[in-house]
Parts: sequence; structure tokens; C-alpha cells
Amino acid sequence: MRTRPLKVALLGCGVVGSEVARIMTTHADDLAARIGAPVELAGVAVRRPDKVRGGIDPALITTDATALVKRGDVDVVVEVIGGIEPARTLITTAFEHGASVVSANKALLAQDGATLYAAAGQHGQDLYYEAAVAGAIPLIRPLRESLAGDKINRVMGIVNGTTNFILDKMDSTGAGYQEALDEATALGYAEADPTADVEGFDAAAKAAILAGIAFHTRVRLDDVYREGMTEVTAADFASARQMGCTIKLLAICERAADGESVTARVHPAMIPLSHPLASVREAYNAVFVEAEAAGRLMFYGPGAGGAPTASAVLGDVVAVCRNRLNEATGPGESAYTQLPVSPMGDVVTRYHISLDVADKPGVLAQVATVFAEHGVSIDTVRQQGKDGEASLVVVTHRAADAALSGTVEALRQLDTVRGVASIMRVEGE
Ligand code: NDP
Ligand code: HSE
Repeated sequence: MRTRPLKVALLGCGVVGSEVARIMTTHADDLAARIGAPVELAGVAVRRPDKVRGGIDPALITTDATALVKRGDVDVVVEVIGGIEPARTLITTAFEHGASVVSANKALLAQDGATLYAAAGQHGQDLYYEAAVAGAIPLIRPLRESLAGDKINRVMGIVNGTTNFILDKMDSTGAGYQEALDEATALGYAEADPTADVEGFDAAAKAAILAGIAFHTRVRLDDVYREGMTEVTAADFASARQMGCTIKLLAICERAADGESVTARVHPAMIPLSHPLASVREAYNAVFVEAEAAGRLMFYGPGAGGAPTASAVLGDVVAVCRNRLNEATGPGESAYTQLPVSPMGDVVTRYHISLDVADKPGVLAQVATVFAEHGVSIDTVRQQGKDGEASLVVVTHRAADAALSGTVEALRQLDTVRGVASIMRVEGE
């Protein structure tokens, strides 16, 4: 074994970084044996230097992250600060100064992964980011390496633990959205400002990363259609149950049937209780991958939290260190297909639409005519009337999202339609 240690600079020592430091210290001998050389912390960059950080030598703490990545003797920079800047500049500076990078930063990778890959390639360094999607679950490496010989056609997953916890609570206890969010906050799942999770931004960033890797093309955050889950109601869960479904916030990345384009989207959807994703409870994540030769694969586990995420980070640190000792680098960006990302209107799926209508002769025929005029075929209709009003639930066959939007717009114009109570896509059948 080489005796000279490989040096790791840790940028950020919060929820994830503190666990990375702890495991690096407590498992130092095992990590050294697996890598073939010892690894040691070269420095830990933080914002608040006076905060007590148990188990970390205070001499390693610095607020000058730039100086740390410019030292020149650092082998691996672990970026667990998050956000766009200064993370992006610190990462590119690290590459310029001869270090490889391990990051958990999904927001940055989804917004500007191309810049990071280009800088890594230019300077012959590694960029690894297993922790950026679905926390501890080995997913990026299986997609990038194990499935590199296959053709992936679809990736569908629950990639946000906070929203899965909220939806699971609503489903299992009948709680409303706010009540379930309050519980998620009290248990430390949801942040004080839960916008990134509940409005689907976090899942959309992960969808962009997954689609890019799965389809060997560039997909950015802006390419991902996004709907949050704040509008999901207890009534939606009741409707889902009547159909033998539950509701999940799904990230779905698909290759078009003709193979000429891809789509990436995040939105709540009904899925049958028999689908493997339906049984993903609490804050767990799971991703379902459909590949041409491998068939259907499912990846499941904790998608967040300090120790689980640090596990993925350290797996990358070991891989990058091994590469350095072998004077090699791992896979870089694979975006050779350059497929266009189609708009949401082109996505074809099924819909569950709940309408409040007048309960009188001809209304059902009127509604059915609107669907027919927009080329959307109805699968089932269920009506429940009360006091001259009725609730009409229509489930369609597969139709383009644009056709469905046109249908709903036209339905809203009908005098007999009092309101469109909810529109939910139906997936996984
Ligand atoms: P935290 O907010 O807990 O930690 C951020 C750390 O970065 C803190 O130590 C903070 O310092 C430090 N920091 C902030 N700004 C600077 C700066 N300008 N210079 C130096 N240090 C700075 O974040 P998390 O650990 O939760 O998340 C880190 C990354 O991991 C993010 O990209 C996140 O998306 C990702 N991730 C997180 C998961 C989780 O479960 N938490 C799961 C998967 C990915 P100080 O301690 O002084 O405030
Ligand atoms: N806020 C994210 C979640 C953390 O709830 O899944 C992991 O990326």
C-alpha cells in the first residue's frame, strides 16, 4: 500500500459534510485498504468558523474555500455546500488546480452540468455525483456504467423523500396537505422553506440529471416540465382509491417511440397499487428503469439524510482515489445523441378528470362531445349526483397532453360545467 496519503478537501460541513468527515475518520483504515492508500482531510471549508464541529480538528476549518481548492496538493474536492455559486466556481477552480471533484449538488448539475463536465475533461479530472440523485441509492453509477451497454427507454421514480412522506401520510391517515406538511417539518424531513421540494424543483433537477445520463443527451432543469404537489387533496386520494391507485410525485424521463426525442417531467400522478412504486412509503425513494435488454429494474432506499448521502459521497471518493492511483479517469459526459427534449404537450398518457356539473339531461353527452372533438377517447365515466349537481369522473385512454389541455379548456367554457375539480395523470399501467 502507498504510504503517502491522498488528500481530500471538504467544502461544506453541514448535514452531509459532517457525516462525510465522521465516516472518513472512523473508517480510515478500511478506506485506506480499499483504496490502496490512506486518505486524509486536507481542510474543511465552512461559512461559520466558530460553530463547534465534533470530531474535526479545528485547525482544518477555514472560511477560505477558494484558497483550499487552489492549494495544488489536493487530490479530491468534495463539494457539499449546495446551490449554484460559489459551488460552480469552486468546482471549476478545483479542476484547474489538479483535483477531481465529488459533488452532491443536484441543482448545479441540472442547471450547468455541461460546464462542469467540460472543465473536468479539459483538465483530465473526474466528476462524480452519485449522491446528487436519490441519496444513498446506487443509481448514477448503474446508469452510467452497468447499463452503458444497454438502451434505456424509460426512467420513472420517486426521487424526493419529503414529498413522498407527505403524500404517504395523506394516503394512510386521510390528512390534508398542510397537516401532513406540518408533520414532515416537525420530523425534520421538510425544510423551513419547503418550496424546492413541494413545488417539484428538487425532483425536476434530479429528473434532468437522470434523463441526461439515461439517454446520452443534454437535459437541463429548464427542459423539465414541473408541477408541484401542493394542490393534491384528500378527495384526490379518495378518487385514486376507487380506481385501485395511490398518488405519488413522479419524475418520468422517456425516450419517444420513434427514438428521435426525449421528455422529462415531474408531477403528481395516480399509479396502481400493484405497481412497485406504490409501495414506497415514508421518505424513501425508488427509481424504476426500463431498458431494452435488461428489462425492468428497480432501485430503492433512503434518498436523503446525512449518513445515507455521505455513503454515496464516500463511494465516489473511493472510486476517484482508485482512479488517481491508476492514473486513470472514470466516465465523462456522454451526450453524443443530442436528442431534442419535446414539450409536455407531446407527452402521451392517461388522465383522471374530476368535474362538477349540472345534473340534467344532455350534460353527459355534451361533456363526451368535447372529449371527442379533441380526439381524447374516454375509458370510464363515473357520476354521482346530489341536489341537481353531480360529480363526474372521467378516465381517458392514452392521449397527448396538448389534446387533454384543449379538452379541459373547452370544458371550462360549458355553462353546465361548474368547475374542473382536479386533473391527474395516470401512470404505471
Ligand atoms: P447544509 O446546509 O446542511 O450544509 C451546507 C454547508 O455548506 C454548511 O456547512 C455551510 O457552512 C457550508 N457553506 C455554505 N456556504 C458556504 C460558503 N460560501 N463557503 C464555504 N462553506 C459554505 O446542506 P446539506 O449538507 O444538507 O446539503 C449539501 C449538498 O448535498 C446540497 O447540494 C444538497 O442538495 C445535497 N444533498 C443533500 C441531502 C440531504 O439529505 N441533506 C441529500 C442529497 C443531496 P456552515 O456550517 O458554517 O453554515
Ligand atoms: N429535500 C430532498 C428530499 C433531499 O426530500 O428528498 C434529498 O435530495
